[in-house]
Order: sequence, then structure tokens, then C-alpha cells
Amino acid sequence: MPRNLDPSKEGLLRSHYDGAARQSFEDDGRDSESGLDATEFLDRASPPSAESKSFFRPRDSPVQRWSALRRATGRRRCCLVLLTCMLGLWLLIGIGGGVVYKVFQKEPPYGQSPPWYPAPKGGIARTWAASYEKAAKMVERMTLAEKVNVTTGTGWQMGLAVGTNAPAVYVGFPQLQLQDGPLGIRFADNITAFPAGITVGATWNRKLMYARGKAHANEAHRKGINVLLGPCVGPLGRMPAGGRNWEGFGADPYLQGIAGAETVKGIQSEGVMATIKHFVANEQEHFRQPWEWGLPHAVSSNIDDRTLHELYAWPFGDAVKAGVASVMCSYNQVNNSYSCGNSKLLNGILKDELGFQGFVMSDWLAQRSGVSTALAGLDMTMPGDGLDWAKGKSLWGPELSRAVLNGSVPLERLNDMVTRIVAAWYQLGQDDEIKFPRKPPNFSSWTNDRLGFLAHGSSSTQDLVEVNKFLDVQSNHSSIARQVAAEGTVLLKNDNLLPISPRGLGDANLKRRRDVVERATGKRHTGKFRVGVFGEDAGPGSGPNHCKDRGCNQGTLGSGWGSGAVEFPYLVTPIETLRSRFDKSEVELHEYLSNKLPTAGSDQAALNDLELCIVFANADSGEGFTKWDDVSGDRPNLNLQKGGDDLILDVASKCGSGHGQVVVVIHAVGPVLVEKWIELPNVNAVLLANLPGEESGNALADVLFGDINPSGHLPYTIGKSLNDYGKGGQVLYRPKGIIPQQDFTEGLYIDYRYFDKHSIEPRFDFGFGLSYTTFEVKNAQVTPWKSKSPLPASRPTPAAKPPTYSDQIPPASEVLFPAGLRVLERYVYPYLKSVDDIVTGPYPYPDGYETKQPLSGAGGDEGGNPDLWETYVSVAVDVENVGPRAGSAVPQLYLVYPAREGVDFPVRVLRGFDKIYLRPGESRTVDFNITRRDLSYWDVQKQNWVMVTEGKYQFQVGQSSRDLTAVGTW
Ligand code: BGC
Repeated sequence: MPRNLDPSKEGLLRSHYDGAARQSFEDDGRDSESGLDATEFLDRASPPSAESKSFFRPRDSPVQRWSALRRATGRRRCCLVLLTCMLGLWLLIGIGGGVVYKVFQKEPPYGQSPPWYPAPKGGIARTWAASYEKAAKMVERMTLAEKVNVTTGTGWQMGLAVGTNAPAVYVGFPQLQLQDGPLGIRFADNITAFPAGITVGATWNRKLMYARGKAHANEAHRKGINVLLGPCVGPLGRMPAGGRNWEGFGADPYLQGIAGAETVKGIQSEGVMATIKHFVANEQEHFRQPWEWGLPHAVSSNIDDRTLHELYAWPFGDAVKAGVASVMCSYNQVNNSYSCGNSKLLNGILKDELGFQGFVMSDWLAQRSGVSTALAGLDMTMPGDGLDWAKGKSLWGPELSRAVLNGSVPLERLNDMVTRIVAAWYQLGQDDEIKFPRKPPNFSSWTNDRLGFLAHGSSSTQDLVEVNKFLDVQSNHSSIARQVAAEGTVLLKNDNLLPISPRGLGDANLKRRRDVVERATGKRHTGKFRVGVFGEDAGPGSGPNHCKDRGCNQGTLGSGWGSGAVEFPYLVTPIETLRSRFDKSEVELHEYLSNKLPTAGSDQAALNDLELCIVFANADSGEGFTKWDDVSGDRPNLNLQKGGDDLILDVASKCGSGHGQVVVVIHAVGPVLVEKWIELPNVNAVLLANLPGEESGNALADVLFGDINPSGHLPYTIGKSLNDYGKGGQVLYRPKGIIPQQDFTEGLYIDYRYFDKHSIEPRFDFGFGLSYTTFEVKNAQVTPWKSKSPLPASRPTPAAKPPTYSDQIPPASEVLFPAGLRVLERYVYPYLKSVDDIVTGPYPYPDGYETKQPLSGAGGDEGGNPDLWETYVSVAVDVENVGPRAGSAVPQLYLVYPAREGVDFPVRVLRGFDKIYLRPGESRTVDFNITRRDLSYWDVQKQNWVMVTEGKYQFQVGQSSRDLTAVGTW
């Protein structure tokens, strides 16, 4: 019996596994009915039923596709020859490509990611001290198997959530339930489909960021989830066509940082652990993970130290400061070392410099090696399977047990991994059994039926149990979803057309309009006001959940696709709302819900008499495991999809024979090019509604009809062409070698920073957004609070000490399969069948493992050196509503660094924003507190944040990155 076990609790262990594994294998491993042993049984088992809920599966590898073909044809020999040829060809291309790459590619200036060991222990921060104390008391009583359980997922589809670890039953630590994603609860019923991150970013409203996070977590909690796999702040948005940019909040680290931190606070206020992801530089989908794209390795994002700090890692710093419980490391490599095994990133930057106290979890199968990832700072592997999906062959689980017993993973490291996870659980108050009953979630990610299996992914026989309780957790969260969608709608153009009235244009406007048209055409138009609504994007298509994981573009676009999407409980389409909002006694509505205009018949004839045309178009993208049309995760260009541009051009020329007024509405995952039609004289208004979620139509109508004055601002730049974003803005679509190399040579210059540096005129600049009223931003007043000094105060001594444990390697018997445990196929256990082959001895540690790294001057507490978060100067401006309507202004502060020889600074960087509601004529003072971190740059020599003490900082405040009307200096 394992060490420290209370014999009365032995049954607990069995009952946990039995819960998942109740099946008919006898103790001798043979099925009672068929007499087959578990492997034989598996061979004959049928795959999960076709009615299974859609679940994301990685793109089939060539090998998988091959086996399917072989099964289908049965022509083995011929197939073998073909296979050999293909392999040969593949090797030739790969090696050839590699050689070409080596010859023509200059060595990137970043080199190989440097080593950073040993992994810093959690437990240094005052804010977490009590939780660590409690955790230590629990962890010291755990057996080795229990500790391994806590760190390792049980395998893909081995629980009801997308990720589950296993419990430490003797000490009362439950199985944790982890679920996507950033905009709602994936694979669940009766939940809210909130607007996506990019829409939240476009609100520039901190309160809404928080409120959406809170409502999301409230639902997660009630569905039985412990850990939400969101928010997402990486990708940051380096490439405007990047497939998953929409999961995050916009192409600027400061905006991502604030939105991420507010979301984390909102989520965690409900006691649910938030996961900030994907750490780091997962900027494109192409080649993001091995085999998904046919290559054995993932892309390497090659980034210099300063850029990593000032751009890509920056928002993670905000999340850590906000107390985030978990960080998900990404699929890609950074400087040719996988993120989840990159000691510099995890040990050095995240745990030492940023003082992260929670646990690092791998993205799904982003762990690519066993021992070295543990040493590099990974704390939890998800979903537990190792290099292959759903095979149950973990890189940890039993292998971690073995690694601890043979000394290759120091026990100290395992203890820290487990302590971090348990401390996070205490930190969020999840030890309260009333609030967090220790039960599986009340929904299954894998079936819509009431009954299902607890370990859906296992082919072993199991009892059918109630897995879906269909609990409605939506409360009144649709109102938050609606508000975010409305406030996240950006008015890009308005020639005095919007808002419209339910009766058409509004009386005065209508009369004026009709007079103009009469003069132009000689035709008097009387009777009802005639409105046309155009485009597939205005309508329902085949329903919002038509494609798995929303992996296609049809009907109105409410979200991108992939793990960041949910099953819509409903989706209010624009057309539904327009039908009900227009006053039928005054308005005649004509619907053209396709992207092609009719060429004949009465519908075509009606076009000539339309007075107002509202035309919808969109652009979609998503996670790389699904391809739609020519969009393989990343978009191939920034064009509107499905002929959107042509539709708009057609409508503009035909609406009222070219005299009608046109409103363009765009739903999009990111920037789209508008050049073909933006300057047409009758394209009078353009609304960019981003990805609005379930309340799409309602939110749009709120803005169109002026119930809400638009206050969304662009969270990215809209250029005039994709080339405007520079070389760094281009997705690497072709690998050019076995390990695709993506060099971030543009450094700090992405999005508006690139446009500003190269004086490129964007179509719409970062931060831009119109309103139905007019605001003025003026009178910048600068108040210094602390004097300038180059470096932050010295790193503080830690407020608390990490727990210490016995360093005695536990007895091997603790990880032997317990007698009588019924074992599920492909389920990941911490156990070994035998420990006889375990040999302890010297282990070849990674290079640099023996060199203890100096602690960073930028670290010392949760979020890093506390001095970095101190306000050094504040800037106040007056914001006045000088227009006719009440509305919300978004004052934005951009910082201009003083010149310093040898240091290149962006023209300006965002360092503050606010959103304030003002009645007509009202004026308010808005304050921006600027911290030391905001004022500093990362000095690669000093390895610290450095403030420029000579010259003057300038603060430019206004309503977009190119409309800066109030300036102050310090
Ligand atoms: C995604 C993550 C997600 C995970 C679990 C991965 O493919 O990259 O963002 O949380 O799957 O579904």
C-alpha cells in the first residue's frame, strides 16, 4: 500500500477510477463476455459514434490519411510501394528545403533560446502566501502517484471537459475540469455565446471587459468547470491575416494587457481559474504544431529579447499582475525551442521575471518531450496524451513517475509543480465544497445525448451515465453580450446618414433626400420608404451551428472558428431585427439575402426604386485544425470573402439606380480592405461590427437606429493593402524547410507602429472610431509623482518563502498499478506495471542546466518588480461633448519616448485609455496614471526595464493614434 495512506480511504481511489472506468474487464484483464483482453478488445472496438458532438481533431497527418486509404482499398503491396515513394519524396523535399534554407537564409540574430535553470519555485508572493501554506499541507501528504495525477491530463476525451487531470483522492484534491474558451463555454448547451475578444477590444471599455469575464465564469462555474481556457492575448496580431487574432483583443500589447487583465479579474471574481494563453508568439496557424501541416516540427517564432518583452510577453505580465491562476504555453517554438519546453520563457521570463505564482499548462499536445519540459518549467500537461492524439501514451503520467524514481526529474520540481496547482485551487477558493462540489461537469463535451460515457475516448466498455443535464446558465448575460457587441461596433464612415429611424431616414432627412433624388432623376417618389437588405451575412444561412466548431463561413458571421468558438444557443440575425425594427406602416423592406443580385424579375426591378440599401459582407478565419475554402486557419489575404466587394459595388451602383444611399455592415475577424468602395459617393456609412456573438442583430440595430451612440474604436489598423503592414505583417505560408522559421525582424514595428515609422497612410488608423456626436480632447496637464531614475528599485526580498518538503524519493511501490484496479484503454494513469527496470544514475541534463541563473532585477513579486507598477507621472485631459447627442468618448494616451542614442523607439505607443459617457455640452477631466513599466524600454544589456532620464517624455492624447489634440511633456 502506498505511503501515508489511510486504509479506510483506499476505496476512494478505486471509486474514482471506477467512476470513469466502470466496465466489464475482469481482474485478469479479460472481458467477461467476450473473453478478449483489453488490447484485443480495443482492436475490435468501433470508433466513437457519428452522433458524437463535433470535437476538434487535429488535421489528419499524412500517415493517418494513408491508413484510411489503405483500409479503404485493402491493396497492401501496391500501397507499400506508394508509401515508400511518398516517404522518399517527402524526405527529399524536406531535406532539400532544409539545405536551401540553410544556404540562403542568414542565421537569425536571435540564436537558440538560452537555458534558464532551475525552475523558480512558487510561493514568494504575499498575495498567494496563505494559499501556498494550505497547499503545502496537502501536498506533503500526497503519494507520488497522486502528485503525478495532479500534473497530468487523463487523455483526450477521457473526461467530460476538454481537459481533466486526475485527483489526489486520499488528500481530497479533486479532478479539475478545464474548458474552452475565450468567448463562452465550448461544447456546452444553454450558455451565452459572447462577442469575441476582438469585439471586446473594440469597446475600449474596461468595465465591460470585466463584466464579460465575470458573466462567462459565472456560467462556467454553474456548469461545473474549475479552469477556463481563456482569455487569449497571443496571438497579439503581428499579422493582420493571422487566423486566431480574433480570440484576442487587438494588435497592441497595452490594449491586450488591459483587456486580458480585466477579463482575468472578472473570471476569477467568480472563483473560476482563468488561463491566459498562448505563451507566446503563436502568431500564425500555418505550421503551428508538428504533423498538423505535414511537417515534423512546429514553426519557430524567432524574436529578439527586447521585442519579446515589449510586445509579445507584455500582456502576459498584466495577467500575472492581475493574479491569473494559469498560463497556457503555446504550440510553436520560440527561437527554436518549443514554448512548453523553453526554460528561458517559462523559468526565466514567466516565473522569475514576472513572478508568476500559478501553474503553466501546455496547449493540447504542445508538450513535445517529457523530462526536459518539467525542468523547463511546465507544470501540467494537457490533455495528457503525449506526442499523438488519443493514444494514451503520455510523456508524463507513468513516465513522470518513472522519471522521479530514477532521479531525472528532481522530486523538488515535481513538488513545485503540484504545489503551484494546488495553491491556485486554494487561491480561488475552490476548496469550498459547497461552491465547488467535487463532481464532473453537468455537460459532456462529446455527446448531446443525456446519457453517455464518462471516458468517451476509451473503447473499453463502460456504463452509460447521465452526462448532460442541460442546465440553463445564461441568466441575463445576453444583455452584457448585447452591450459588448454594440459598444464594439466601430462606425468608420458616416456622411450624415446614420442613425436612421424605424420610419426610414427620419422625417427631415427623408424630405431632403427625396428632393435631391427628384432633382437628379425627375421622378417623384411617394409612398413608403423603400429599404433593401443585401448579403448572405445579413441572414441565417443554414443556421449558426451548421459547421463543426463554426469551421465555415455561411450565414451571418458571429464568431471565428476553432476551440475559441461555442455552440450558439441562438443567433439573432441582422435581418430578423431589421424586419421587426422598421415600422411596416412606413417602410417597405426588400430582402436579398445572397451575395449575388438578381438579374431579372420583380426583385431586380425593385432595386431601382430603393432609397436605402444596407449591405452586409464578411471575412472569417480560425484555428488551423480546420480549413474552409482557401482559408487554412490564417486568411490568404485581407479581402472580404464570398464576393463581398463585388456585392457592395453592385449594390452601390444599382440601389435606387445609383441614387439610393448605402450603408455597409462588415462582420470580420480582423482588418479587411475597403479600398474598392470606401470612397464611392453613395456609400454613405460603414459599420464594422467585428464578431458580435449571439446578440448580433439586436446590437447592430441599437447602433443603426441610434439607441446606442457608436463608441467602438479600431483595435487594429486598417491599411490600404496587405503590403502596407510590411514584411513582418505577412503570414509564412510556405515552410521553406523542415522547421519553418518565422523571423520577427520588424522588431517592435507591427500594426500602427509600423505605419507610423514608415509614414504609411492607413485607410483607418488604430484607435479610430466615429460617433453620432463630436468630442474634443484638450488641455493636457502633467503631474509628476516620482522623479525619473533609470532602473527600478532593487528587487525586493520575497514576501514569503516557497514551501519545502522532504527530498526522500518515495518508495516505488507508490506508483505500481493498485491491485484490482480496472484499467481503461487509452486512459492515462500515473502507474507503472513494474518498477524493476528503474535505474537511478546520472542523467544527461540539458545544456546550461548546471548553471544557476542570476535572478532578474525586473522580478521579485507577482507581476515582477513592484516598482514597475508604481505611477511616476499622471496626465489629465479635458474631454468635452460638443455635439448634439449624448455618447461615450474614448480618449487614448500615446507616449513618445525622449531620444536616446543607440536606442530606437517607435514613434508613439499606446499607454492609456478610458471610456466616458458625456451628455451634450458636458465636459469631464480624465486622468491617466503612467507607471514605470509604461515609461521604460527593455534594455537587453542590463536585462531590466530602463527609464530614459534625459530629455522629455511626451504624452499625446486624443481620439485615435493619429488624432492627438492634447499634448503634455515630462
Ligand atoms: C487550442 C487551445 C485550446 C485547446 C483545448 C488547442 O488546440 O490551441 O487554445 O484551449 O486546444 O481545446
